[in-house]
Amino acid sequence: MAKVAKVVLGLAVGFGLSLSAAQAGDAVAGKKVFKKCKACHTVDAGGKNKIGPNLHGVIGKAAAAVEGYKYSKAMKASGLTWTEENLTGFLTKPKKFLPKTKMSFGGLKKPQQIEDLIAYLKENS
Ligand code: HEC
Repeated sequence: MAKVAKVVLGLAVGFGLSLSAAQAGDAVAGKKVFKKCKACHTVDAGGKNKIGPNLHGVIGKAAAAVEGYKYSKAMKASGLTWTEENLTGFLTKPKKFLPKTKMSFGGLKKPQQIEDLIAYLKENS
C-alpha cells in the first residue's frame, strides 16, 4: 500500500508541476462560483439560452457561437476564442475586457474563483 501511495503522490506532484496555475482549479468549488452565473446561464448539454447563452463546452470554443442566441455586436465582432486566458480576462471585468458586451456582470475579484470556475466549466463540456 505504501508503495502505491508513493507512486500516486509522485504522479500528483509531477502532474501538478506540469500544469499552469490557471488549470489548477477545483471543480467542486467552481460549481458554487457558478451560482453567480446561473441567473443568466445554463451549462448542461442542450441547456436553454437565458439572458445569456448556454455555456456547455464553452472552453476552447469561438465566442458568439451558440445558435439561436442574439449576441451583442461587440461579441460577434470580437473574434475571440474562449481560451482559459481570454475567459479569465473576461470574467475579471467583462466590460473592460470587451467594451459594449451586453453581459451585465461586475466580474469575479478572486483569481482562485475563476480558476475553480474554469475547472467546473471544463467538466461540463
Ligand atoms: C446578468 C446576466 C449575466 C450574468 C450574471 C453572467 N452572464 Fe455571461 N453573459 C450574459 C450575456 C447577456 C452574454 C452575451 C454577451 C454579449 O453578447 O455581448 C453573456 C456571455 C457570456 C460568455 C460568452 C459566451 C459565448 O457564447 O461567446 C461567457 C463565456 C459568459 N457569459 C460566462 C459567464 C460566467 C462564467 C458567469 C458567472 C461568473 C456569467 N457569464 C455571468 C449575461 C450574464
